[in-house]
Amino acid sequence: MTDPHVIAFYDRHPISADQILAKVGGAPSGAADLWPHDQDHYGGLEANAALAQRAAIGPGTRVLDLCAGLCGPARHNAATLGCSVVALELNAQRASGARRLNALVGFDRRIAVVQGDATRPPFGDGAFDVVWSQEAFLHIADKTGLLAGARRVLKPGGRLAFTDWTAGPALTDADRRLMDEGIAAKAIHSPAEYEGLLTGAGFAEIRREDLSAAWRSILQARLEMYRHLRDEAQRATGADPHADYVRFYERFVALVAGGALGGARFVAVA
Ligand SMILES: C[S@@+](CC[C@H](N)C(=O)[O-])C[C@H]1O[C@@H](n2cnc3c(N)ncnc32)[C@H](O)[C@@H]1O
Repeated sequence: MTDPHVIAFYDRHPISADQILAKVGGAPSGAADLWPHDQDHYGGLEANAALAQRAAIGPGTRVLDLCAGLCGPARHNAATLGCSVVALELNAQRASGARRLNALVGFDRRIAVVQGDATRPPFGDGAFDVVWSQEAFLHIADKTGLLAGARRVLKPGGRLAFTDWTAGPALTDADRRLMDEGIAAKAIHSPAEYEGLLTGAGFAEIRREDLSAAWRSILQARLEMYRHLRDEAQRATGADPHADYVRFYERFVALVAGGALGGARFVAVA
């Protein structure tokens, strides 16, 4: 079931098509101009390359990007790897922002943006070689539906490749509520739970890499960026629209530093 809280969270998220375009003076000369600003996951372009390598994406690979956001990774993969990408995104503003950015840098014919829910991918059985996702599955409580849909649209032998937050043993119910209130995190699983969910959905050859240490320092840098965006907005408007988000982020960073939250990269074969 689509959660209105997740949609509302991304309607007011500090990273938007307008904010990205403002960063490049409104007129990008190509997709690469956007890359420093349009990657809404941890690790930017290097994380894309690492996930793409694990998923064996190359020229002609048919990729479905689940929860594609503003299509930063989709444009980067299409440009650097020559794959085709269908980008499925729940949020109407983000889907239209993605289409706008794609058109501005000449990717509107290379990436199809579809607005829809990742738990009900509106595509045929076996339509893709790779299903890809970054830092988005935490928003989806129905992992059974999500993973069943991902497996259905993959061809036999196709790869599901994704990164997501994982729960450490110290994550409390209060921490989970904080994560839900702060970033609309509907379900955070331990690595073992995730592996069980993947096996239950029929995936095999599950590989997991622990990204917790890398995400710890990235998160600290993001906190600085959000503080900067808050200060910019404050200077421009006198208002403080991102203040609550920054306050939450400070507590989020503490959970990651203490090991209650971690990050992981998963690849599994359909
Ligand atoms: C952290 S952003 C990641 C965007 C993109 N993967 C990137 O790295 O730039 C998460 C995205 O997931 C989308 N999302 C959340 N729940 C979704 C769902 N059930 N179906 C499709 N998209 C969803 C959000 O609207 C948001 O754009």
